[in-house]
Amino acid sequence: MKVLVLTSGGDAPGMNMVLACLYKKFGRKMYASRAGFKGLINNDILPLKEFKPHKYMYEAGSVIKCSRCPKFKTREGFAKALENAKRFDCIIILGGNGSYKGACELAENGIKTVFIPSTIDNDVEISDYSQGFNTAVTACVDYINSVMPTMEAFDRCCVFQVMGRYCGEIAKSVNQIIKCDYLIQAESDIDYNKIAEIVKRQNGRGRASSIIIKENIIKLSTFIKNLAEKCPKIEIKGCIIGYLQRGSKPTNKEIEFAKQFASRAISAVTNNYKCTAIVFKGENFENIEILPIQENSKKNVLEYITKKIKKTSKK
Ligand code: F6P
Repeated sequence: MKVLVLTSGGDAPGMNMVLACLYKKFGRKMYASRAGFKGLINNDILPLKEFKPHKYMYEAGSVIKCSRCPKFKTREGFAKALENAKRFDCIIILGGNGSYKGACELAENGIKTVFIPSTIDNDVEISDYSQGFNTAVTACVDYINSVMPTMEAFDRCCVFQVMGRYCGEIAKSVNQIIKCDYLIQAESDIDYNKIAEIVKRQNGRGRASSIIIKENIIKLSTFIKNLAEKCPKIEIKGCIIGYLQRGSKPTNKEIEFAKQFASRAISAVTNNYKCTAIVFKGENFENIEILPIQENSKKNVLEYITKKIKKTSKK
């Protein structure tokens, strides 16, 4: 048996623990595609052992590297990836929504795939939890808690920008813990008059104020400039929390999640399940079928992509 693993999209704390668990279980049968789907296309595939996952299991990042790979979505790119994937009995894919779609496409073309939701953004549609989210939220909370005392010393206002490209989950969860003075998850939340009122009220009480804003809504400096016009006497500072959210050491909870994801993925491989996504729903882990493997399927990648192109052009 030969099993392949790849980590796709942004890295997520906990990925290395999953890799270490897979290596522990499958040893020499376990291979890794370097830098996600890019490695699968270029056949840049090595025994997982060479990446020494067991040495880095408690570290963030991904020892087998990540990439965002637009080429996988092209006809040529996908065809090459599929050809290389066929050399393995199963592929385990760690990533976010885009990577899940990649897993579905491989599954639809007869590759046995196992998917583990892994992105700090927690925006994987099929799962309530995706690996890395707890660490990202914890990193933001620790960061803000460390910055606010110095803001308090000057009665300043501080705007904290958090990650979450298309999704406000990190911002929302951080706010549930910190209880900041104002939360901006979307453009519609920006009401300068209302925010200035809150900032001035806090300042009048001899207190600092904190605002959390999700990235990709407005440039932080523009937001601060606009807000400053409404409360010119108050000093407003900005902090972009940034990659600390992805690079922080996985929390204990994250490590537990990673072990559970890995153990479910291992069962899915060894028990000959169909294509499976390991998801966390409510309070429990579940395996959900990605797509049935099409036994003796006559469908090949070109037919598949042609069909897709036709569908898209109809829209
Ligand atoms: O992995 C998700 C994420 O961290 C988003 O929150 C963020 O917008 C994006 O990745 C940053 O990507 P990159 O590492 O390519 O700058």
